[in-house]
Formats: sequence, C-alpha cells, structure tokens
Amino acid sequence: MAETTTAPALTATEVTMAYRTRRGHTVVALDRVSLDVRRGEFVSLIGPSGCGKSTLLYILGGLRRQTSGEVALDGQRITGPTPRKVGFVFQDYTLFPWRTIISNVEVGLEFRGVGRKERREHAAYNLDLVGLGAFANAYPGELSGGMQQRVAIARALSMDPEILLMDEPFGALDEQTRTVLGEELARILEKTGKTIVFVTHSLSEAVFLSDRVVVMSARPGRIKEILTVAEPRPRQPAFSTSQSFTDLRNGLFDLLHEEVRAATLAEMSGAGIGGDGGRRG
Ligand SMILES: Nc1ncnc2c1ncn2[C@@H]1O[C@H](COP(=O)(O)OP(=O)(O)OP(=O)(O)O)[C@@H](O)[C@H]1O
Ligand SMILES: [Mg+2]
Repeated sequence: MAETTTAPALTATEVTMAYRTRRGHTVVALDRVSLDVRRGEFVSLIGPSGCGKSTLLYILGGLRRQTSGEVALDGQRITGPTPRKVGFVFQDYTLFPWRTIISNVEVGLEFRGVGRKERREHAAYNLDLVGLGAFANAYPGELSGGMQQRVAIARALSMDPEILLMDEPFGALDEQTRTVLGEELARILEKTGKTIVFVTHSLSEAVFLSDRVVVMSARPGRIKEILTVAEPRPRQPAFSTSQSFTDLRNGLFDLLHEEVRAATLAEMSGAGIGGDGGRRG
C-alpha cells in the first residue's frame, strides 16, 4: 500500500483567484481556498462547471499565479512550474501524431536532456506499466482514445514527478472505458506511490479512486465539504458495487446536486459576472 504520511506535500492557504476578463469584468474563480494534500494521498476535486477546479490545479502546479494566498510544495512557496516534482495530465492528451508512441512518452525526458538509451528504457518501463508495451512503435492515430490517454499517463509518469495533477484525464471517454482506466490507475498508483490531485465530474470515479473527495461550491469556488473514503488501497473492482460505495456516492450526489443547481440557475439568470457566461472548459 502507498505510504500516506501526515506531512503535507502540497498546501494551499487562503488562495483567491480573481480573473479579469477581456471585457473588463472581474470573475472570482476561487475564494480563500485552503487545502492540504499529504504525500501518497489521492485527492479528487469535484464541483459544478466553472467553480475553479482547473484554476486550482494550475495554481497548485505553478502554471498560474493566484491573486492572493499561498501555495507551497513541501513547505516551499510555489512561484512557478517545477516539472521535476509536479507533473500534469490534461483532458486532451495531445500526443504528437508524427512520433511513435514510445517517442511520445520520451518527449519530456528529451527536453530534460536525458540520453537516448536511458530515456528509451524509462519510456519502455512506463509504457509497460500502462499495459501498452506492445504498441511502442505504433503511431497515435492507430490507438483508441483510451489507449492514447494511457500513453499520456505514461508520458507524465516517465518524468517521475512526486505529484501528478490530473485535469479530467478520462473526461472524453465512455463510462466503461473510464471505469477500467480508473482501476488501472489505482493499480499503477500502488506501484509508484505518487501523490495525486485529480479533477473529475464523475462521482463514481471520485469515490473509487480517492482517499478524500473535495466538494467545491458554485462560483466563487470554495470548499464546501471534504469526504473521506476509508476503503483500503489498492481499490478492487468489487468496491464499486459495495454498499459503502453506494452510500458515499449518494452522499456526494446530494452535496453536488445543490451546488450544480445553484450554479445552473445563476447562469440562466446571467448573474454574477456581467452576463458574459463565465464558463470555460
Ligand atoms: N483565463 C481566464 N480569464 C478569465 N476568466 C477565466 C479564465 N480561466 C477561467 N476563468 C473563469 O474562472 C472560473 C473558473 O474556471 P475553471 O476553468 O477553473 O472552472 P472548472 O471548475 O475547471 O470548470 P469545468 O468543470 O467546466 O472545467 C470560470 O468562471 C471561468 O470562466
Ligand atoms: Mg476545468
């Protein structure tokens, strides 16, 4: 089982993010969000569209600068990206179509200046880990969406970050595929002991994978509640048909339903941000 220690790996303290739109409006995406993510922990962020989940992930990864508040990695203030420690997997997996699968996995290591032999070995190991060793010399166009997403995960893992920030990595896939990929991810994580912050819209995915599920409120994003999933890891497929799973999922549904309802009604009335919609993928 992955080590979960009490020392927080990532901390957000009173993080507020106010965007200035091109039309001069201010959108408060996050309002004083505080969160500790412990080493080896799997934390999901769930909440209505536009509540600031991606924003929080970008800030945690140093890709975007918060308006106020602090984010820290192992107690050190985050002021920019730290690709050696923190990796990203986004929803659109953006593989280079002209490169083979293995050379897509290698790309970050190449940027880092790792020698050819070493990066090939490293990439092959991670490709095996996601079950795609046999496709090393194929091209992205020859793989299904789910397979390409696994390549993107292998690419992120091959950089060997301590922390992986994942923004709806399975969002574009059908429910069965994402369930199986979720199980795969659970298996891979047991092997690698990574710390994960994972954005999803799927209640089942959140419950199945997470140690804790952070429920965010409609914009301005705040933390509404944090649910603990005590089920031991590695999570087994049978967990997803158990009563405890159903109870957790239903609890999450109730919490989220209120928020999505509030967000949707606010949007329908054009409230809050001067009527420019305020939504972004
Ligand atoms: N670059 C930007 N400029 C202005 N406003 C932005 C920008 N990025 C995000 N926003 C606004 O900030 C709010 C939060 O956006 P964010 O993308 O973080 O939401 P989200 O929770 O990830 O939503 P979704 O579930 O739809 O992906 C939204 O209202 C959005 O319109
Ligand atoms: Mg988002």
